[in-house]
Amino acid sequence: EEEILGKIQDLRAKAYLGGGLDRINTQHKKGKLTARERIDLLLDPCSFNEYDTFVEHQCTDFDMDKHKIIGDGVVTGHGTINGRTIFVFSQDFTAFGGSLSKMHAQKLCKIMDMAMKVGAPVIGLNDSGGARIQEGVDSLGGYADIFQRNVLSSGVIPQISLIMGPCAGGAVYSPALTDFTFMVRDTSYLFVTGPEVVKTVTNEDVTQEELGGANPHTVKSGVAHYAFENDIEALQRVRDFVDFLPLSNREKAPIRYTDDSPTREDPALNHIIPVDSTKAYDMRDVITRIVDDGNFFEIMPDYAKNIIIGFSRLEGQSIAIVGNQPMVSSGVLDINASVKAARFVRFCDAFNIPIITLVDVPGFLPGTAQEHNGIIRHGAKLLYAYAEATVPKITVITRKAYGGAYDVMSSKHLRGDFNYAWPTGEIAVMGAKGAVEIIFRHVSDRTQAEKEYIGWLSNFKKRNNIKEHYKVGEAASILIENLSEFRSKLQVLILQYELDNVYNADETGL
Ligand code: COA
Repeated sequence: EEEILGKIQDLRAKAYLGGGLDRINTQHKKGKLTARERIDLLLDPCSFNEYDTFVEHQCTDFDMDKHKIIGDGVVTGHGTINGRTIFVFSQDFTAFGGSLSKMHAQKLCKIMDMAMKVGAPVIGLNDSGGARIQEGVDSLGGYADIFQRNVLSSGVIPQISLIMGPCAGGAVYSPALTDFTFMVRDTSYLFVTGPEVVKTVTNEDVTQEELGGANPHTVKSGVAHYAFENDIEALQRVRDFVDFLPLSNREKAPIRYTDDSPTREDPALNHIIPVDSTKAYDMRDVITRIVDDGNFFEIMPDYAKNIIIGFSRLEGQSIAIVGNQPMVSSGVLDINASVKAARFVRFCDAFNIPIITLVDVPGFLPGTAQEHNGIIRHGAKLLYAYAEATVPKITVITRKAYGGAYDVMSSKHLRGDFNYAWPTGEIAVMGAKGAVEIIFRHVSDRTQAEKEYIGWLSNFKKRNNIKEHYKVGEAASILIENLSEFRSKLQVLILQYELDNVYNADETGL
């Protein structure tokens, strides 16, 4: 018996070394941690339960039966993050370059199936040379098995991909199907075909970093949601991130109480919107002044910056924030902004996270580039996402809400549960210039006409008029006058979570 135990211990020790010390050193020299070091940092101490430690590949072609590495290039199992169950896989680049064999794929599929049964998120730590070339279709089939599970899990359990090394070819589609894709700067890249193939096909000279590094994917393509500086920062921030999410669509996100008083007033909110309505301000200032401890986990901060999305908390309760950003292109909605926010709203709808929408939008971006690339169908995605969402929806019009964009941004007409307007709110079909050109087309003194229209707009802003407007209750149910108290107003709503009842009533048609 002792002999058997000794053998198992030897095997385990070998498995822990993956592809061996030399390859581990190479991994470290690249500034990357090993698969197991990453799991240790991601999960609570000593919480990891590993599956299939001793699995090896079954391939016999290319003399592969003589080359086996215990674990076959991936470490899988479950553990906890801040006490909550999480399933995890971590590809081991030291073993066959983390490439995906049939058995490697089966290990992944097993934890994905378990996660669905249990109702817990899957976090994938990707570091792989792609399909195991020696295994041919067996490894390609393995990818498809994973994709199928990604799709069936979508909207049921949160799925997060952290790209910590290469991820190329077919491999990229699993992260793309998951809810959030994070990357590590300088050491990770994602592309369908590498620089050599690009050179042959399009004659472009491009490096791996330029083609698919964290920079292009978080700034230009929108494929990745965030770029971290290194492995350690990435793993620690992902721990914070999953804390905003429920374990599955059957649950609510955990409550993380704070000392930040729910009734904290912030007088600066009364002055945050510039008097001149053409002047910009940073919507992030509004967000961080309202939420618990100013803590805002912004997602895709460098992509389509004209819209802001991310997670925060109010009295410990997770909330999602979508806000137009007047600092960038006046907060206009374009294709990228619409797609960015639409996917986020759908995620929050699937996972019971209330959405607070801060509106300051001059409309959709005009021009042939936008029209010919399909702003109509992409803008419709955001409209669809809001209209479909049955989670609590609170909308705050801080300034402009013009035209079709007014409708799209979680308007009352799209089942907004509570729609507030600040005294600076301007709800109109379009801005003064455009309006004057149409309705005062025949008036000779356009400048005077524009002044009149602006007068009408600012009249509308005056309390008496605005009250009339809100009595009708069409655009906004509630006018907030003392903005410094805004945090406590939102707190009350979120805390009572009475909106959840609104949602139930909606569904049952009561
Ligand atoms: N199948 C089988 N083995 C693979 C592999 C794959 N797809 N990708 C990498 N490996 C192996 C290498 O043979 C090497 O083995 P060794 O340690 O026994 O020498 C090890 O993994 C490390 O690869 P290496 O090329 O030395 O690492 P690198 O950091 O210089 O380059 C890549 C990494 C990913 C750029 C490079 O390995 C590569 O181009 N791989 C193929 C990518 C691909 O096209 N995959 C198919 C996509 S579907």
